[in-house]
Amino acid sequence: MLQVLVLNGPNLNLLGSREPDKYGTLSLSDIQDGLTSLAGKLDIGIEFYQSNSEGALVDRVQQAGLGSVDIAIVNPAAYTHTSVALRDAFLGVSLPFIEVHLSNIYKREAFRHHSYFSDIAIGTIAGFGAAGYAMALDAAVNYHKEQLPTF
Ligand code: DQA
Repeated sequence: MLQVLVLNGPNLNLLGSREPDKYGTLSLSDIQDGLTSLAGKLDIGIEFYQSNSEGALVDRVQQAGLGSVDIAIVNPAAYTHTSVALRDAFLGVSLPFIEVHLSNIYKREAFRHHSYFSDIAIGTIAGFGAAGYAMALDAAVNYHKEQLPTF
């Protein structure tokens, strides 16, 4: 069974009340509940982790890469634009991942236009709000299918 880890970075625990004009009104647990239900329909395993701490996210990626996680869906939040350490963690354990942003980072301030993750991600989904996580889950399933040997 495909195992997916959904990782969320700093301040995403505040979703729902944090700048709702940019990030929407759903809380992180609303999003996680929706993804759990979708994962059930798609018959895949799903787990969640959120942290405001860079080191804790690095530790979780290392653990996922050495364990049973096949693909991660990650919104690195502000670490998108700053974290070489988190980028290196994905590379270090060769964990494939899909990058998600609720907002379209390319429509926002210039400092948000650079991501340390996009060039090493399977792909990036930005600007579709919470629906982006569901799109990423669907994309993870399709990506995994195409990786299977065809014999
Ligand atoms: C974000 C965009 C980042 O620039 C910002 O720092 C976030 C959230 C998004 O989901 O749109 O915290 O990753």
